[in-house]
Amino acid sequence: MAQRLTVIGTGYLGATHAACMAELGFEVLGIDVDADKIARLSAGELPFYEPGLEPILRRNLENGRLRFTTSYDEVAEFGDVHFICVGTPQKPGEYAADMSYVDDTITALAPRLTRACLVIGKSTVPVGTAERLARRLARLAPAGDLAELAWNPEFLREGFAVEDTLHPDRIVIGVESDRAEKVLREIYAPMTAEGIPLIVTDYPTSELVKVSANAFLATKISFINAMAEVCEAAHADVTKLSEALSHDDRIGGKFLGPGLGFGGGCLPKDIRAFMARAGELGVDQALSFLREVDAINIRRRIRMVDLARELLGGSFIGRTVGVLGAAFKPNSDDIRDSPALDVATTIRAQGGNVTVYDPQALDNARRAHPELAYGTSAQDAVAHAHVVLLLTEWREFRELDPDELGAVVAERNIVDGRNALDPERWRAAGWHYRALGRP
Ligand code: UDX
Repeated sequence: MAQRLTVIGTGYLGATHAACMAELGFEVLGIDVDADKIARLSAGELPFYEPGLEPILRRNLENGRLRFTTSYDEVAEFGDVHFICVGTPQKPGEYAADMSYVDDTITALAPRLTRACLVIGKSTVPVGTAERLARRLARLAPAGDLAELAWNPEFLREGFAVEDTLHPDRIVIGVESDRAEKVLREIYAPMTAEGIPLIVTDYPTSELVKVSANAFLATKISFINAMAEVCEAAHADVTKLSEALSHDDRIGGKFLGPGLGFGGGCLPKDIRAFMARAGELGVDQALSFLREVDAINIRRRIRMVDLARELLGGSFIGRTVGVLGAAFKPNSDDIRDSPALDVATTIRAQGGNVTVYDPQALDNARRAHPELAYGTSAQDAVAHAHVVLLLTEWREFRELDPDELGAVVAERNIVDGRNALDPERWRAAGWHYRALGRP
């Protein structure tokens, strides 16, 4: 437990990792280039919504194990181990990932490393990055070979970030030396003691585990959404189909939920960056199916808009649309590539009066889409609506009462974009209920 850890980048991944490592008993110093974010974290305030994280952040600030800074000098001086947790967003107008934040980290950190340490990459990166960064580190660090690199991808889901960080399904480490493996084994000892598997491999395999996991998950979602398209044409019910498939152990029911498809800061950009990298490696054919996975996913959003327009008799002009959900999924305030906001803005562009409500993501949504109107509650957002669209399956939306909601709308039309409601209950209350992939 002698290791002192630093965490570079304090977004979802970094802030969670820093707080959870402190919770495990390490001394942790977090750094970010965003001084405002650092000020908020230092005051015990999370810059994003993540259930269960704020108490851990506060507890470890108070007991002194966790601190934040904007100084790389301090980070280099403090850390025996440096975790890289910065973002790798999609480059505008390209499939490839923008590696500038990761590269900037090495540029800032490496020349300050004067003693033995381990730099551990956790960011999701194109395969081959670790090899390239290891060479740069060796070249730039005054400590030379004593400053080493390892790769340790992160699999956390937003909304379950604490649980996924403290009790992951598996730990994957890409290392080039026994020393690096020993350090990582020590850090994760509380988890391996719980029986969590730790897989030791080389750099490229560890990088590929992350992107292939996300590619598989995206494929599973798009598979069931492709079946939804077929169900729509064949008058079949994709929710029953999914339920029946899920009883086959080899298939399983997770990530087989049909609906508006995937969004967020990871799956969409990760499958695109993976395709871009495969192209560079000359194996683009191997991943050409991901192009289809992406296309199926986008088609769900188009179909959602079409269904809503159909319910309104063919046009949005002069009609009022109440949208429930702005976050890309429930229990998150993240609106990156949110299917819900994509649908809402498309309908507005086609002439609809759109009002959106979300339990946590309203501030982010308002900043990104000031052109949309926002309600103060589900009831408020759907008041006088000619159609209601359920686009993010928050629990409070699943539990809505069809009669209460029916009392405030102009017409009882609803499209359930997440297959989250009971159609019979809503139809019994006089609603015209439609859903993706169901008759
Ligand atoms: C994902 C991966 O799960 C995680 O391992 C990785 O580290 C980062 O990317 P996250 O982006 O937090 O995590 O969201 P996730 O819970 O995976 O959901 C992704 C999207 O898929 C959401 O938009 C969700 O609504 C959608 N989804 C999920 C479905 O449409 N159907 C499903 O059955 C499951």
